[in-house]
Amino acid sequence: MSDTNMSGKVIVITGATSGIGQVAAEQLAGMGARIVQVARDRERGEAAMNRLRELRPGVAHAIYYADLSRLSEMKRVAAEIAAAQPHVDVLINNAGAMFGSRQLTEDGMERTFALNHVSYFVLTHGLKARLLASSPARIVNTASDAHEPATLEFDDLQSARAYRGNFWESLRYGGPGFKVYARSKLCNILFTRELARRLAGTGVTANSLHPGFVATRFGDETGGLISFGIRIAKNFALSPQQGAETLVYLASSPDVAGVTGQYFHKCAPATPSKEAQDDSKAQRLWSETAALSGLPE
Ligand SMILES: NC(=O)c1ccc[n+]([C@@H]2O[C@H](COP(=O)([O-])OP(=O)(O)OC[C@H]3O[C@@H](n4cnc5c(N)ncnc54)[C@H](OP(=O)(O)O)[C@@H]3O)[C@@H](O)[C@H]2O)c1
Repeated sequence: MSDTNMSGKVIVITGATSGIGQVAAEQLAGMGARIVQVARDRERGEAAMNRLRELRPGVAHAIYYADLSRLSEMKRVAAEIAAAQPHVDVLINNAGAMFGSRQLTEDGMERTFALNHVSYFVLTHGLKARLLASSPARIVNTASDAHEPATLEFDDLQSARAYRGNFWESLRYGGPGFKVYARSKLCNILFTRELARRLAGTGVTANSLHPGFVATRFGDETGGLISFGIRIAKNFALSPQQGAETLVYLASSPDVAGVTGQYFHKCAPATPSKEAQDDSKAQRLWSETAALSGLPE
């Protein structure tokens, strides 16, 4: 574990009831940080809170509940946290999943897009004032190297076409669910680039990362051939401890205090796909997401 002292730092993290986020939250709490987590399941949320309390008794960790695939809950939870926590040093957008078939949320958004991308956007928007007031501060977005084959099609952001796929695409991606997931992870990198550009000079940094292929609960509920393939592949995957390394590094290391707009893998800057470096697509994605979320640009 790092010897960086995070005492007095407040870290808001999503997806910390399991996998990479759980390990990262526990390690950061072990370094002295106060963890404010957003979870959807009360039983797993309470279990996560009990583990955190045991690590550092006396630190007032907090938990808020929200289904981050629903726009109203993203906005509500961001507003609740902003009202209760005057200080936010680090925001970690990490909750994510892959869905084998196309599902629409109550907002009419495709579920992968809503959870993996729109929740990052809305939570960041809701906590931006707190991060700016706490500058220097950091935003860390969990992306994936799964973004590499993806392209962004603005006339199909809700993946009506992408989920239909075709035989060749199924062979290439292992199923349409993976194609849509890959695109959502491309969105994470493009969002981070545009966010960093907009935050330049404020002391708030924004970086994204690929954690590696990690044996977590990821893929368990995707369904079909993809879940089967992931289950087999997990035998060769990193442990959640290894998978959390870059996340913890970006959230805490003094080495990256002023670094922004980068994509990291193995605690070092990495080069994402050409599509993920397209600044005009990053700007357009920002505008489209703001409009879809009913938020100002
Ligand atoms: N595992 C990998 O190989 C890998 C590789 C690259 C990137 N990633 C990325 O890493 C991140 C974390 O994934 P993981 O591997 O740690 O998977 P995981 O073990 O399945 O954890 C996912 C986390 O997201 C939460 N979550 C899922 N849906 C949610 C919703 N609707 N509302 C609120 N929270 C929700 C889960 O909560 P519950 O406990 O309630 O399910 C859980 O805490 C994801 O963004 C994923 O895309 C993973």
